[in-house]
Amino acid sequence: MPAPHRAPPIADLWEEVQRCTRCPLYRDATQGVAGEGGTPAALMLVGEQPGDQEDRAGRPFVGPAGQILDKALTDAGVDRARVFVTNAVKHFKNEPRGKRRLHRRPNTHEIDRCRWWLDHEIAIVRPKVIVALGATAARSVLGRPVSVGRERDAIHILPDGTKLMITLHPSYVLRLRDAPARRAAYDQLVAALGQADAAADPARKATTRLVA
Ligand code: URA
Repeated sequence: MPAPHRAPPIADLWEEVQRCTRCPLYRDATQGVAGEGGTPAALMLVGEQPGDQEDRAGRPFVGPAGQILDKALTDAGVDRARVFVTNAVKHFKNEPRGKRRLHRRPNTHEIDRCRWWLDHEIAIVRPKVIVALGATAARSVLGRPVSVGRERDAIHILPDGTKLMITLHPSYVLRLRDAPARRAAYDQLVAALGQADAAADPARKATTRLVA
């Protein structure tokens, strides 16, 4: 795989991810799940890692978290087709429990090893704005531990001038049992996506419909 500045086509990158052994996570996953979407794309969304359904489908954000994300994008007036969607970690980290595979959070070694692929994707996609969905994505992009509660919603400027916005992960919204808290978190996610889209393309006004 060439260095990030010699950006390969995204299809080649997908093939390369299937051969990745940079950390042990490939052993328990069905396949690697690289990002998908427009290239170039002004807006790039980075999640944590594929879940059970993404691992089987080979596509990011197609399971329950993906449904929340799709709804939030729609409510923010953002067409997913013009966004590049990916994850900080390309293989599903899981623990078998009977017939189920339980999600396990990637550790910092796995996140940092997988940054190699995110760098390649960024080189291909050339986003103006990256949205880190949750702490794992933010850790990957910034290369340091991040408190989403403290650092979310501000626009950070990365060394190459790309803007970064940190916001809630859709799975966090899903996990909230208290309906008003869930609604408030969802509205924050929608607002962040709208704000990031407006920053990626200032001609496009943030058109957030805060409807759950
Ligand atoms: N959670 C993520 O972070 N990414 C996915 O693709 C699915 C669930």
